[in-house]
Amino acid sequence: MENEAAMSRSAKTLIVKAIVVVCMATLIGLGGNYLNAMQTRGGFDAIIRDSPAPELRVAEERILLEPSEGSFSFAVLGDMRWESPPRIAVLKDAQQRKPLFMTNLGDAVAKSRGAEWEKYLDELAANWDRSIPYFHIPGGHSRNYRFDGVYPAFFQHYFGRTNYYVDVKGWRFCFLDTSSGNIPNDQESWLKERLREAERDRRKVVLFMHHPPRLEAQGIKHALSGADTQKLAQIIKGGEIAAIFCGHIHSTFKYTWDGIPVYVTSLDGSSWKEQPAEYLHVVVQENQLIVTRTSLTRDMARSVEQL
Ligand SMILES: [Fe+2]
Repeated sequence: MENEAAMSRSAKTLIVKAIVVVCMATLIGLGGNYLNAMQTRGGFDAIIRDSPAPELRVAEERILLEPSEGSFSFAVLGDMRWESPPRIAVLKDAQQRKPLFMTNLGDAVAKSRGAEWEKYLDELAANWDRSIPYFHIPGGHSRNYRFDGVYPAFFQHYFGRTNYYVDVKGWRFCFLDTSSGNIPNDQESWLKERLREAERDRRKVVLFMHHPPRLEAQGIKHALSGADTQKLAQIIKGGEIAAIFCGHIHSTFKYTWDGIPVYVTSLDGSSWKEQPAEYLHVVVQENQLIVTRTSLTRDMARSVEQL
């Protein structure tokens, strides 16, 4: 009997030891993976440099812009994490049209390393027309793995808030942060409140977000998850959304989701190799949005097409 009890104790001790070893190996593995992610995604890069273009920083939740004329326009630029010449070309072309504001839909850098951000900011400091407000939102590539969590650390340093809204006459432009790949709960209630105010004030609403709503029937799969697409549909239900502008899919085109026109624009690694660099220009006339796609080739041939 004593032998059986001793064997049972010894078996239990072995099982406990095995569980401890497995747990420790798992923790070391996870820790190693996280440290590796920190190494590749800017986690060890110090955020030390002041912005060479501090006007890009959004500090307030609400921005009010006043156009000098009845109609106004804005430009939409998408993912540009590849080579500099095409992204500088679309920026310069967009701003020579003197839009009231420009937007950048995220993924301006590939790994969110400090040096990448510094290069991007230096380009903006040299080429951006500071008389035109330029609003950025983060994409998945904007996120850093830091000691205190995964978030767009460099983006926040250079651009401030990651979600906010801009009011212009009878329009409200809401900027969402989907850099985590989904719509965070705090932005769910935030957007509902912005839509409620817009309805009260009879403003039409435009959304800007990095990830497009999923619509697999039309091949839109590189997108928000199905659950988050449903979540977005619930948030905006009953509201009047004139259009949604997104990046993430590396092309420039339009589709209709939930009865709403969705415009996607983005550069690509092949921009100025196999395809032109493109962006959107939007004229706002009364209650209407007139959206055009501008295509620029490497030799600066330029074409404009209404979507
Ligand atoms: Fe993306």
